[in-house]
Amino acid sequence: MAPTSTAPDSLKNGLDAAERASRDEIQALQLQRLSWTLNHVYANVPFYKAKFDAAGVHPSDLKTLSDIAKFPFTVKTDLRDTYPFGLIAVPREKVARIHGSSGTTGKPVVVAYTQADIDMWAGLVARSLRAAGIRPGMMVHVAYGYGLFTGGLGAHYGAERLGCTVVPISGGMTDRQVQLIEDFKPDAILVTPSYMLTILDGFAKAGLDPRKSSLRFGVFGAEPWTNAMRAEIERSFAMDATDIYGLSEVMGPGVAQECVETKDGLHIWEDHFLAEVIDPETGAVLPDGEKGELVFTSLTKEAFPIIRYRTRDLTRLLPGTARPGMRRMEKVTGRSDDMIILRGVNVFPTQIEEILLKTEWSAGHFVIELIREGRMDEMVVKAEARPDHWDGAGLRHHADRVMIHVKETIGITTHVEIHPHGTLERSEGKSRRVIDKRPKGE
Ligand code: DLL
Repeated sequence: MAPTSTAPDSLKNGLDAAERASRDEIQALQLQRLSWTLNHVYANVPFYKAKFDAAGVHPSDLKTLSDIAKFPFTVKTDLRDTYPFGLIAVPREKVARIHGSSGTTGKPVVVAYTQADIDMWAGLVARSLRAAGIRPGMMVHVAYGYGLFTGGLGAHYGAERLGCTVVPISGGMTDRQVQLIEDFKPDAILVTPSYMLTILDGFAKAGLDPRKSSLRFGVFGAEPWTNAMRAEIERSFAMDATDIYGLSEVMGPGVAQECVETKDGLHIWEDHFLAEVIDPETGAVLPDGEKGELVFTSLTKEAFPIIRYRTRDLTRLLPGTARPGMRRMEKVTGRSDDMIILRGVNVFPTQIEEILLKTEWSAGHFVIELIREGRMDEMVVKAEARPDHWDGAGLRHHADRVMIHVKETIGITTHVEIHPHGTLERSEGKSRRVIDKRPKGE
């Protein structure tokens, strides 16, 4: 059995006990739970036992939280190599649910939950939604995909736990989403930010004013998005938009959540997860405040505990604000996987998003194509104009201005094409921002 979790009393009025705890209290809890987790995996998962033995470490070597650095990392290929159930720490019959993330190629990464894990998860999503401004009794429209993906069901159980009325619509069929928002009048929507833009188009198509919709809170995650995108969504819908973070390997949505009163990065629910930021090259642990790769260790999970998982997400750790006992992570601006290296310069799609959203003509719909011309890699930004900003000819002077802005701020030369509204593919879940059209195998 996992150590007993702090009961989510956010269902009533106050915050969870952990949200009110001091930093010292959280760290004491973390140490106790980390010790339980290390012993649990050492005893029950041969993969971890072999890795700890090979590294010459034993769970009893943990004396302080910083001793975690003695233990080996876990990476995505470890999950693929042990596919499907090799990292599960409880007998299969004790597994109440399986989830997975499809990734881009090959077999899914498989994760598992006991009933206690699912209860803990629902409690943390309830805590997250409450931090986002949602309250018991509100109606919540869940447009994250339902299925193996953790988004839909994770959000669903959390919203139910908080005491909300849940509309489990999943992703897709945008016209119907708009119709049901109009008819049911939900207070909140949980969806990827890119699909929220698609739903915004749906409002325009139906001739409806999104600012007059019932939606007052949006909880957006599952992909990187910028503060510029937040401003766009908040302005379009007259809502408070906050960021929710998570990943299947660690749990699903609700590992960290932005508080609506501060909107200053995401509080990590540190009573259940230990976060580190490391130098992605050397693996060395970086001090708080320095940017690097986020690494997580679960502290209470029974079926699928995970030790020092390298997320490939880039961010920095900051002190707590709205929940002073728990640290924040800065909004994830990109994954090391999404990083485009163009003639030696690193570029993230979020940097392009930010520049586009500074213009008057872009509403944030764009893709980046990578092509090869001769021996040179080239980057083409294809961005859509807002419906009322199209000149019929490609807004060439606007495109040139973006090219100059990209050159001045990021330092690379791009081609920028502006397309009429509604011509680029729309997201129904996680958006695909980068299309690599370069010849393979060179
Ligand atoms: O995307 C879980 C989730 C669902 C989170 C719904 C939030 C809302 P995976 O499919 O395993 O799980 O993908 C995890 O998505 O490592 C990040 O790269 C990215 N990601 C998730 N949330 C955010 C966010 C879900 N708020 C991967 N900001 C993670 C930026 C995010 N990236």
